[in-house]
Amino acid sequence: MAKARAQWSSRLGFILAAAGSAIGLGNLWKFPYIALENNGGAFVLVYLAAIAVVGAPIMAAEIILGRKSQQSPVGAFGLLGTGKAGGRAWKGGGYLGVLAGFVILSYYCVVAGWTIRYILMAVSGSLGELAHHPDVLQSFFGDFLADPVSQILYQSLFMGATVAVVYFGVGKGIERAAKILMPVLFAILVVLTAYSVTTPGFGKAVTFLFQPNFSELTTGGVLEALGHSFFTLSLGMGAMLTYGSYMRRQDSIPRAALTICILDTVIAIMACLIMFSIIFSFDFEVTKSSTILFTTIPVLFFKLPGGAFICGLFYLLVAFAALSSTISLLEVVASYAMDELGWGRRRASLTMGVAIWIFGSLSAVSLGGVDALTTFNVIGRDSTAGVFGTLDYLASNWFLPVGGLFIALFTGWVLTGQESRDELEEGHGPLGWPFRAWRFLIRFAAPAAVAAIIVSVILGAEYQ
Ligand code: PHE
Repeated sequence: MAKARAQWSSRLGFILAAAGSAIGLGNLWKFPYIALENNGGAFVLVYLAAIAVVGAPIMAAEIILGRKSQQSPVGAFGLLGTGKAGGRAWKGGGYLGVLAGFVILSYYCVVAGWTIRYILMAVSGSLGELAHHPDVLQSFFGDFLADPVSQILYQSLFMGATVAVVYFGVGKGIERAAKILMPVLFAILVVLTAYSVTTPGFGKAVTFLFQPNFSELTTGGVLEALGHSFFTLSLGMGAMLTYGSYMRRQDSIPRAALTICILDTVIAIMACLIMFSIIFSFDFEVTKSSTILFTTIPVLFFKLPGGAFICGLFYLLVAFAALSSTISLLEVVASYAMDELGWGRRRASLTMGVAIWIFGSLSAVSLGGVDALTTFNVIGRDSTAGVFGTLDYLASNWFLPVGGLFIALFTGWVLTGQESRDELEEGHGPLGWPFRAWRFLIRFAAPAAVAAIIVSVILGAEYQ
């Protein structure tokens, strides 16, 4: 008899691990920066709508596919598609997911590695010295990116930590890590949010985030909010599907999916409140760049009382959030090797970890370290320069939305209504209108939204 599949030990274990996957650099690094770029208000509203209308239904769909099939993405599509329209061709969606996990993890560890350097510098006091002069910090950061040895060193440390967790498996590795990382993360966020309330910029931050200014909303902004809802919720590549395959049958999928979406959203908003309160406390012209987390923010933190301590805590928060996400990325790739190639967990986590690490070193040295990799630009836009930029573009704009389309179409049109209903009701109880609403969204709204993203990418809308 085949070995029973590993399971989370409790409902909370699953929620923490899945929320850990969702909450990551997408919330703490990317969302504040794109919200700033799109002038807050209306953009935030569209983002909330995207999470509710597209993100949450796809989240539930991924968990359904995982728990029903007891497989990772390739096996799930293969098994559930057998004998149905499209048959085994659906497996393509699974392979795309594994590829996306491989690619995203490779460059994600580079950015995550920067947080280790910043934590060390905050502790040693050197960050304080650099942060007293904005220009000094800016040029330090530029030199740091361009130094291949440092980049590979910190990327390796982060990758090593990720492999170390996945190696120990679902219960002893992933769930245990989530039970430590997530409560600490929530506690730090509460402290930082409380701190931000005391800063003079808090009121302005609230207005910026919550006062809709529809005249500022662009089509590109709407599509960016939609696209980001996939990345931030870890959707479209089978991370939630794989975690769902370890979910206990007595737990409720709708409740879990909603909880994860709410936690992820609340934390993205809290991250904005913290960062924008700090920014608006000063009469400071912020350059809206993806590097503000590492250049502007420390400078401003250090101007405030207790800033040195708060700044260190902040990077610890980012590192913890990133680690609980990288774990889920590696788990998708490793579980593919375990389920489809029959490897043991140790072999799968180590081999895949090393392969991704080697591939990731190309991104690590592409930020100024090695000219040919820095200037390389097959896509041809500013934002897609270099190996790092290219991979981020491909993964966020192509792999995740296309993967999401596979998941939405498969769950909405290939699985029967009864099959989905049974899975959603198991561990939950009878569902009336919420089931009909979910089914409508997954059949029509989600595919339409994803199609819009794909068309806009093809037409070349700049929405990085
Ligand atoms: N959701 C993670 C974040 O916001 C990134 C991620 C994407 C993780 C896809 C797993 C799968 O940072």
